[in-house]
Amino acid sequence: MTRLRRRLRAVLLALPLLGAAPHSGHDDASPAVQAMQDDDAENPGLLWVQQGAALWDQGCASCHGAPGSMRGVSARHPQFDPALGRPITLAGRVNQCRARTGEAAWTPDSEEMLSVTALVGRQSRGLPVAIDGSGAAQAALEQGRALFTERQGQLNLSCAQCHDDLAGQRLGGARIPQGQPNGYPLYRLEWQGLGSLDRRLRNCLTGVRAEPLPPGSPEMAALQFYLGWRSNGLRVETPAVRP
Ligand code: HEC
Ligand code: HEC
Repeated sequence: MTRLRRRLRAVLLALPLLGAAPHSGHDDASPAVQAMQDDDAENPGLLWVQQGAALWDQGCASCHGAPGSMRGVSARHPQFDPALGRPITLAGRVNQCRARTGEAAWTPDSEEMLSVTALVGRQSRGLPVAIDGSGAAQAALEQGRALFTERQGQLNLSCAQCHDDLAGQRLGGARIPQGQPNGYPLYRLEWQGLGSLDRRLRNCLTGVRAEPLPPGSPEMAALQFYLGWRSNGLRVETPAVRP
């Protein structure tokens, strides 16, 4: 890992300070991966959307009608919930509904949660992310921003060092993306399956040898809230495809 650290330091020192506009990970992927995402017949994520539709009919349609009623919902999540006094993710909303009917929560990476959030996210495909970080939401946003910029792990690196300062640079074979959350849940070739933003963040945290954030923790919600707000204006791509 010291090689990685040396390489990172070399790239960091060579960089001017740039304030980049939001830019999707889709655009950093290879043309083959982009084509896979863009063609519904090729996008493996659509399988989960179909499974989600079956679950929807069984457990959601009675209250919500057709899945199309969810258009726009994922574009404004995570959302600051004044009643809870903290941001809530789309998966958190789904579990609120599970609780309404006395059903057990789904974990973020269960097939059920991935399928249903893929279906709900899909309804917002192409809409601009529009997360409201104003008013009472500001403290949570600042908490998320602090988590994003603080150095952590044995490599002593912050999210921002890679995803703000080094975005667009090459690290090994891959281009470092801005770390935008607008395609989740998404199909990752390395996972050979659909995965949540929680899982992606665990990958980045273990990459710098840091402790993963507990699923469902206030820190995880704040970090995802900040990431969402930071991606405002990008189009929802769910289910996206990444290497
Ligand atoms: C017993 C009725 C009921 C069931 C069943 C139910 N929901 Fe809900 N759901 C609600 C109510 C009530 C709200 C809050 C109403 C609102 O805010 O518009 C809500 C809100 C939501 C929201 C947030 C909407 C927004 O505009 O922010 C999502 C997402 C959601 N439900 C998804 C689901 C999914 C997925 C299922 C099935 C797994 C489901 N719900 C099952 C009643 C239900
Ligand atoms: C050492 C550099 C590095 C650090 C530090 C890092 N990441 Fe990443 N991150 C990457 C790379 C490289 C990828 C691209 C994925 C790949 O191909 O492995 C990535 C991918 C991502 C993605 C997925 C973007 C997409 O298009 O789907 C998100 C979101 C993300 N990172 C967020 C974070 C957050 C939040 C932190 C801090 C907790 C963090 N990263 C820390 C290097 C880093």
